[in-house]
Amino acid sequence: MLGNFAYSNPTKLYFGEDSLCYLNEELPKYGKTVQLIYGGGSIKKNGIYEQVITLLKANGKVIVEDSGVMPNPTVEKLMEGIQIARENQVDFLLAVGGGSCCDYAKAVSVSVHCDENPWEKYYIRFEEPACPIVPVGCVLTMVGTGSEMNGGSVITNHEQKRKIGHVFGDNVMPKFAVLNPKFTYTLPKGQMVAGIYDIFNHICEQYFSGQDDNTSDYISEALMKSVIHSSRIALQNSEDYEARSNIMWTATWALNTLIAKGKDTDWMVHMLGQSVGAYTDGTHGMTLSAVSMAYYRYICPYGLAKFCRFAVNVWQVEPKGKTDEQIASEGLSRMESWMKELGLVMNLSELGVTEEMLDGIADGTFLMEGGYKILTRDEVVDILKASM
Ligand code: NZQ
Ligand code: ZN
Repeated sequence: MLGNFAYSNPTKLYFGEDSLCYLNEELPKYGKTVQLIYGGGSIKKNGIYEQVITLLKANGKVIVEDSGVMPNPTVEKLMEGIQIARENQVDFLLAVGGGSCCDYAKAVSVSVHCDENPWEKYYIRFEEPACPIVPVGCVLTMVGTGSEMNGGSVITNHEQKRKIGHVFGDNVMPKFAVLNPKFTYTLPKGQMVAGIYDIFNHICEQYFSGQDDNTSDYISEALMKSVIHSSRIALQNSEDYEARSNIMWTATWALNTLIAKGKDTDWMVHMLGQSVGAYTDGTHGMTLSAVSMAYYRYICPYGLAKFCRFAVNVWQVEPKGKTDEQIASEGLSRMESWMKELGLVMNLSELGVTEEMLDGIADGTFLMEGGYKILTRDEVVDILKASM
């Protein structure tokens, strides 16, 4: 049975190979000074930077550059971005990049006009913003996080060895997002597949909870099938427009709150992956793939019926003559084979995790309550050990 909920999503999307020109419709809605947020320079190499600058200038904007947003943005970089925004009294934040730039832009947006320490306020105390919020727009160049159409913002504090996400409300979500699948063609293969697994895992996190007959789970199965299918095509030809556009669109729907509506959600793989990220600075999707199989095999007996459904509906396992345990296990094996086919990181050692780090990683792992089993800290350690 669907639980009660409210649903809205204020982000306007422009999708397709001509979508960047819609900046001409959006930019006039906001003030004159734009903080242009981007990462380590990929947008300069692939020409996206030039295209964005031309449109900003054509719309009479004063451009304030804020570059060098690293994958897994840090609290130090956040403080720098806030200072840039304050010094230049920016009216609008335009993130051009992946989840890191979008997340960072949201974190800056809620901090510019706030006197408190943003790490403490938003990432430790999980408070909501009580100050004016600088609006954010996004031109997406890396696909996976869904940050372009959600309120998520993940920041890493290396000193405290914590990577923590805050999910802000509608007022912080991007006002618009430009999604051009061709902008993702230049992604290195490792980033492409990490993003693909991030998408898949977002869906799993929302699918593996509850046993109700819930429309969200049917949508999830369709999204999973689409991303598996398109991933195989993109792996062969990274410039297959159809596959890259399906992957981009699936990523947005995998985490724009829709498929979580009316049901519980798990999120334990993300909690494990984030804590691993705080210790290793590993690529987000790879921190998830490294712990996933150990986690899902561990919780499978507690949600057996759903794991059977997953095996049959998503992985086309033939159930006839098999026990539920066999069906579920075959589904997970097929998932594991697909992950290997993509070339994902399948264990923590590959990310540089050592046995000595495991206690710390367990301490940094939030224990969620929406999945099939509420883990104890000891179980977290066991799963981490099994992921080595
Ligand atoms: O920095 P540049 O030079 O731009 O290079 C980036 C970066 O090195 C590169 N890249 C991006 N677009 C490219 C490209 N290279 C070539 N061509 C392009 N078109 O890719 C690298 C990774 O980018 P990043 O933005 O870090 O990746 P992703 O989109 O995976 O974002 C990861 C961050 O998002 C958080 C993660 O924890 C991590 O901090 N997440 C945010 C979520 C949310 N907002 O809801 C949910 C997710 O679960 C996730 O936690
Ligand atoms: Zn993720």
